[in-house]
Amino acid sequence: MTGLLAIIGGSGFQRLGGLEVTAQLRPDTPFGPLSAPVLRGHLARRPVLFLARHGDGHRLPPHRINYRANLWALHAAGAGPVVGLAAVGGITAGLSPRTFAVPDQLIDYTWGREHSFHDGESLPVRHVDFTEPYCPRLRHDLLCACAAAGVPALAAATYGATQGPRLETAAEITRMERDGCDLVGMTGMPEAALARELGLRYACLAFVVNWAAGKTAGAITMAEIDGHIAHCTGQVERILAALAAAS
Ligand code: HPA
Repeated sequence: MTGLLAIIGGSGFQRLGGLEVTAQLRPDTPFGPLSAPVLRGHLARRPVLFLARHGDGHRLPPHRINYRANLWALHAAGAGPVVGLAAVGGITAGLSPRTFAVPDQLIDYTWGREHSFHDGESLPVRHVDFTEPYCPRLRHDLLCACAAAGVPALAAATYGATQGPRLETAAEITRMERDGCDLVGMTGMPEAALARELGLRYACLAFVVNWAAGKTAGAITMAEIDGHIAHCTGQVERILAALAAAS
């Protein structure tokens, strides 16, 4: 791979098990502070970068994350392929809690986030192609890493990015399902688009931590979500170690 493998940790991944940290980078960016220092280190003896999307102690909600600063900093630190970890809700049949997926498409329902470097101020206006929002090669490598780690994963799915921080209504999920979404999360955009603007190869490793709103009786609880995240942690770490080892 050209450039360092970078991992953006989401909910449950303020740190990454198996990562041996050698440096903490706190670069200035034209967009202000990033969520947390970029950690440089080794995973499966390969050099990697790691960034906790929600910051230390999960202090940043999805709509307050400085996605531009995060992606800029990873690019400046020498990232090539970037894997965004995503704890998500499952919408369509089969996407029950603890299922893994490597999405191939997304639909963006977020609003009001700084979502482009090419806004005519930082950089001149430019319309990047986003037909395939995720890098096919990195998706393929991720799926191979899932297989190597012994974790079954869905090879295609559509990720719907919602604004949060509240969870969705049942009607919103019904609409998203009609739109073609299989998964719902709050941080997949603008992260994927910003990576594309910088020429970074981006893919998402999603793991389901609850049925989306209205898919089961009753409310979604954080205890349920936390329990499924904890269950998936070891598998996520094995997949990433396999990906790093193959890089
Ligand atoms: N909706 C949005 N984001 C999420 C969910 C959900 O149900 N679960 C985990 N992240």
